[in-house]
Amino acid sequence: MISDEIFLAIKKDCDFEDYTSGNPHNESKSCNDAIDEAIAMVGEYVDDYDVIRDVCYPSIVMQELRLRKYVTKISLGVDVCMSYEGNFYFNLPEVQHALHANRTHLPYSWSMCSDVLNFTGKDVYTNILPLLQRIVEQKIPVWVFSGDQDSVVPLLRTRTLVRELAHAMGLPVTVPYSSWFRKGQVGGWATEYGNMLTFATVRGASHMVPFSQPDRALGLFRSFVLGQRLPNTTHRPID
Ligand SMILES: *[C@@H]1O[C@H](CO)[C@@H](O)[C@H](O)[C@H]1NC(C)=O
Ligand SMILES: *[C@@H]1O[C@H](CO)[C@@H](O)[C@H](O)[C@H]1NC(C)=O
Ligand SMILES: *[C@@H]1O[C@H](CO)[C@@H](O)[C@H](O)[C@H]1NC(C)=O
Ligand SMILES: *[C@@H]1O[C@H](CO)[C@@H](O)[C@H](O)[C@H]1NC(C)=O
Repeated sequence: MISDEIFLAIKKDCDFEDYTSGNPHNESKSCNDAIDEAIAMVGEYVDDYDVIRDVCYPSIVMQELRLRKYVTKISLGVDVCMSYEGNFYFNLPEVQHALHANRTHLPYSWSMCSDVLNFTGKDVYTNILPLLQRIVEQKIPVWVFSGDQDSVVPLLRTRTLVRELAHAMGLPVTVPYSSWFRKGQVGGWATEYGNMLTFATVRGASHMVPFSQPDRALGLFRSFVLGQRLPNTTHRPID
């Protein structure tokens, strides 16, 4: 999504050790400029949480919801406007009633990731690897998974962090990086360390894996809950 030139400029000028997500990122001017250019190059018509998926046009959706309570699908496959419909749907009195939600008649409407819980931006930088380490040390299996169309928490860095954690804990590779299958298709790629710690990608999945690849997410979850490895073969011959 970005040019070689901008990629190289970012690599050369940015030191991500002290990067902050709020503008201007606590970086050199040349770095900030390169980042701005990269963001402009990607543009606002790409969903950062799913770079392959078509983008939603919220104004069309909101109008349709107000007029008819349902939405014409904008693109094939997953419903790209699901989060807007969700905001509408979860605020319908009959839906809240059916879910036994909001019995106290809160004075504000429901919204996704609302400010009510007062998350602090600082929490975003909390390193949870020591926590994962403690869980694995208790011999509880941990799987970390990542949709491969997500640019917000990209799989490349997550994969590296899991590998580094495994290395620090002295866990050897027990399943080398290889594809896993679901219904005759590649569901993604996975590595396992020390029979205990697994990193898996989900092919064609966004930031919210179960939303964009429900069946592959189910396959992944099933294997985890059953204490099994992800299937690394399929019975269907390719030709
Ligand atoms: C900004 O960068 C400087 C030097 O790299 C660092 O000392 C400082 O802690 C950083 N500030 C924030 C808010 O991260
Ligand atoms: C809760 O219900 C009231 C109506 O009783 C509604 O006005 C409000 O938007 C709802 N709040 C949430 C968080 O759903
Ligand atoms: C959340 O934080 C804001 C500002 O920091 C404060 O005014 C508000 O009372 C807090 N809300 C809750 C529910 O703690
Ligand atoms: C699949 O996994 C099994 C055991 O986990 C291993 O013996 C076999 O070589 C793997 N097959 C492929 C194609 O990677």
